[in-house]
Amino acid sequence: MTIHTVATAPIAGQKPGTSGLRKKTPVFMGRHYLENFVQSIFDVVGADGKTFVLGGDGRYFNDRAAQVILRMAAANGAARVIVGQGAILSTPAASHLIRLNKTDGGIIMSASHNPGGPEEDFGVKFNMPNGGPAPEAVTEAMFQRTTTLTEYRILDAQDVDLSVVGRVHLGGMVVDVVDPVADYAALMETLFDFPAIRAMFAGGFRMRMDSMCAVTGPYAVEILENRLGAAKGTVTHATPLPDFGGMHPDPNPTWAHELMAEMMGPDAPDFGAASDGDGDRNMVVGRGAYVSPSDSLAVLAANAHLAPGYARGLAGVARSMPTSAAADRVADALGIGKYETPTGWKFFGNLLDAGRATLCGEESFGTGSDHVREKDGLWAILLWLNILAVRKESVAAILRQHWARFGRNYYSRHDFEAIETAKADAMMTALREALPSLPGQVVEGMTIAAADDFAYTDPVDGSVSLKQGVRVMFTDSSRFVLRLSGTGTEGATLRVYLERYAAGPEGLDLDPQEALAPVIRAAHGLARITAFTGRVTPDVVT
Ligand code: G1P
Ligand code: ZN
Repeated sequence: MTIHTVATAPIAGQKPGTSGLRKKTPVFMGRHYLENFVQSIFDVVGADGKTFVLGGDGRYFNDRAAQVILRMAAANGAARVIVGQGAILSTPAASHLIRLNKTDGGIIMSASHNPGGPEEDFGVKFNMPNGGPAPEAVTEAMFQRTTTLTEYRILDAQDVDLSVVGRVHLGGMVVDVVDPVADYAALMETLFDFPAIRAMFAGGFRMRMDSMCAVTGPYAVEILENRLGAAKGTVTHATPLPDFGGMHPDPNPTWAHELMAEMMGPDAPDFGAASDGDGDRNMVVGRGAYVSPSDSLAVLAANAHLAPGYARGLAGVARSMPTSAAADRVADALGIGKYETPTGWKFFGNLLDAGRATLCGEESFGTGSDHVREKDGLWAILLWLNILAVRKESVAAILRQHWARFGRNYYSRHDFEAIETAKADAMMTALREALPSLPGQVVEGMTIAAADDFAYTDPVDGSVSLKQGVRVMFTDSSRFVLRLSGTGTEGATLRVYLERYAAGPEGLDLDPQEALAPVIRAAHGLARITAFTGRVTPDVVT
């Protein structure tokens, strides 16, 4: 087998965002496109003699990309690649394998919750030896490398058979094809009380898991149905498909509407859940009771000690800045650390590595803990199941008790998608310029207490991240936050995060959009969303 050195030229725009390099699939399939980026990864992290993990969420081009990456790893001198059977690995399972095998990192092929298919999205992301997404300094170095690259190395070889578990050789490199589920399922068994959950299912507890034709299907069937005894067929859309069966595998009430309809319907099971394309996101729903991700984090933090893996309590809870402050109230009550980080899971890495935070969460349907360095959809679902098995109460009752004790942070996120980038930028610039004049102003009957552009200093390594979102805070602890998405592939996506606190015991049962109406009006008024973007109503409300 010969190693080819292929002459190439820098390709514009290979700039990884919040979650790696994400582009339309035809772009990724373009001449030298994948190869250029992968060579840049290897040039930055070094491949010689190293061991990597490789897998993806099974979307269109996942299989072909895996073969290219394997041949390039071999040509760049890697010693060994651990790859999921069929080139499949959920993102949290990949994170676990990176850590378990003490590897030098891993390459994950996914565009997360974005649709997959020949005309949809594809992505490649590098995770570090700690199992977490590469920090900005590393992705920036990769981007810089893409701008100067003149050649890449690839082995001239046949495809590796990834359909069979076992060891094969590719040039001088070892390829270990592993069962994508086994090690992950074993980790879950160490964290949760499987016998208690099994007893709950045996007692008639019913659940619906919607895997949305994406990667969690095999994981959920093995863990929920085979190991925990949930009824056969509990997991729907359980077969990962290259185009996710045309579904938009984003577990929120808009895209997981089948699950929502069932959970709000007359024959709803006790518990419902969904996960996204690559298995790191989760949505949980009780019978007739939707759980917002911010509330989910708070409830999990308040009850985690009921699961064996967290019986000793939590070191701290971290949330992204736009996530509601519900978890903070739990942290205060427990007397544990609380952290507010910029959007993106990578900001939790240092806190987890340093043992400062045990649980982390984002309003964008991401929850996780220090068991891996990614958010983890099935983990969150299993922690909920463990809590339900111990407390023997409904999701709705647990939520109600939580609000009665801590108060309720009404919360919603409004997304305005595919805005012309220039218009969105102009709106954010104008809002940023207005910030100093805002404190003291009265809007919609609420007084502005403070307004800023969120800046974060990492408490562990001291690194500073500026301009992470504009926040306007009112004296009654209501607030709104505006930021532009870092993961979109079309124009700009404006995210407006809205929050209002009710201490209770009155006013805990309002509809969130009604409870938030003044905050919504204030956000539109101050940011002049319609004047700048022409948009009146959001495309997605979560
Ligand atoms: C979105 C979410 C963010 C999450 C990221 C990756 O990023 O808002 O919380 O970490 O996807 O899953 P955004 O598009 O807002 O930059
Ligand atoms: Zn995801």
